Amino acid sequence: MDPKPTTASYTETTHIVLPNDTNVMDNLFGGQLLKWLDMSCAVSAHRHSHRITVTAAVNNVSFDRPIKLGDMVTIKAHVSRTFNTSLEIWADVWTENQFTGERIKCNSAIYTFVALDENGKPAPVPQVIPVTEEEKVRFEGALRRRQLRLILAGKMKPGEASELKALFV
Ligand SMILES: CC(C)(COP(=O)(O)OP(=O)(O)OC[C@H]1O[C@@H](n2cnc3c(N)ncnc32)[C@H](O)[C@@H]1OP(=O)(O)O)[C@@H](O)C(=O)NCCC(=O)NCCS
Repeated sequence: MDPKPTTASYTETTHIVLPNDTNVMDNLFGGQLLKWLDMSCAVSAHRHSHRITVTAAVNNVSFDRPIKLGDMVTIKAHVSRTFNTSLEIWADVWTENQFTGERIKCNSAIYTFVALDENGKPAPVPQVIPVTEEEKVRFEGALRRRQLRLILAGKMKPGEASELKALFV
């Protein structure tokens, strides 16, 4: 029997950018942000599936603004849609002014996780019920993004990507 559908589970984590996290410009090192994003997405995936999950792919990350030494960085991750055994996770990143508390959005990232059973084999995960407008938009687009990433990974033939094709015809 398929696990019961459930609403998105959110994970919010805050870090302070320390000297060890920066590049020579005193900006947050991209690899450090990827690590924090991966961890936040993993927690979201675990909470949603109640299983061990592994990163299958990092699908989209952009670094729109430099994040400075001493900044506070908040990452909010949620499961946007699940398929059979895989979960698409969105992570939004804000820097936070430590004196005013004002938050500025720096970027968003999309990761794919896969849930595993006790034998390390992919296992079914609950569907997501989108509730907010943003969740509904992300849910709707997830099927096209999945088709695109599976084509790029050589795991789907372009001719099978019906939702993606529908964008162009
Ligand atoms: C991710 C992993 C479990 C997939 O195993 P697999 O044998 O390819 O399994 P399957 O072909 O049955 O695919 C399982 C799911 O993964 C998804 N998937 C596999 N490769 C993917 C990729 N490159 N991008 C997105 N999704 C992918 C499939 O679409 C499928 O999803 P679905 O069940 O929802 O349709 C396996 O490749 C693995 O263990 N990778 C290493 C993970 C890891 O160590 N991560 C830490 C970072 S180094």
